[in-house]
Amino acid sequence: MPTVRDLKAKTGEEPITMLTAYDAPTAGIVDDADVDVILVGDSVGNTSLGYETTLPVTVDDVARHVGAVSRATEDALVVADMPFLSFGVDETDSLENAGRMLKEEGAEAVKLESGPHTVELTEKMVQLGIPVMAHLGLTPQHVNQYGGYPRQGTDQDAAERILELARAHEEAGAFSLVLEHVPSNVAAEVTDAIDVPTIGIGAGPDCDGQVLVVDDAVGLSEWSPSFSKQFGSVREEMENAVEEYVSAVESGRFPAEEHSHEETDLEEFY
Ligand code: KIV
Ligand code: NA
Repeated sequence: MPTVRDLKAKTGEEPITMLTAYDAPTAGIVDDADVDVILVGDSVGNTSLGYETTLPVTVDDVARHVGAVSRATEDALVVADMPFLSFGVDETDSLENAGRMLKEEGAEAVKLESGPHTVELTEKMVQLGIPVMAHLGLTPQHVNQYGGYPRQGTDQDAAERILELARAHEEAGAFSLVLEHVPSNVAAEVTDAIDVPTIGIGAGPDCDGQVLVVDDAVGLSEWSPSFSKQFGSVREEMENAVEEYVSAVESGRFPAEEHSHEETDLEEFY
């Protein structure tokens, strides 16, 4: 069972693999492939709940999906992504929302989209026994501030702010740091500067690990970001299967003899 400590041991030795998952069958597949970390991302809002952004995702939404994923996961470290405004507003609420993921749903850590406002909170969570994965660079919960999803850390000041916050979160006790959509050299500098593993998405090859949204990785998403890669074509497979089903029913090819129950003896039918 990879733990937060196993991840530390792997850091700099072997690349760390992380994928999202939101349901039991997908988590089982990801876990069987020996992925180190399964993130139940608030990206569930986009992938599975039909929202345009992650902002409407609730604590109940994430909790439900964390439960499904942890029930199907034997080996990977399960991390619950804390949704928009579920942390950072009120400390007690933040701790209860995060604690619920461990206490009730089987997560082993939480991820917080990080900033100056999460340094103390991270420290408090870690003191209480809630391992925290930090997340810097592009933080999609700030979509309304960005006006989209632009690359972050693209000038000296912005890059230095990311580096400073990475150090502050390591100091606060975060066990790992996601770096999203930042220049490769910024990710490389941050990776050099801190001891806890960096896990990149759109952050180049020099992080200690990589993460993708599983729907993007397997080719299920209708759209995926350019920094993502499709390693399969699940969407096409599903489209073909569904079309085949429709045509089989419409043409009477399904159900055939072998899909039907044996007839039973009926004496009289009223
Ligand atoms: O919600 C998510 O899937 C994420 C990853 C892309 C890091 O935050
Ligand atoms: Na997220």
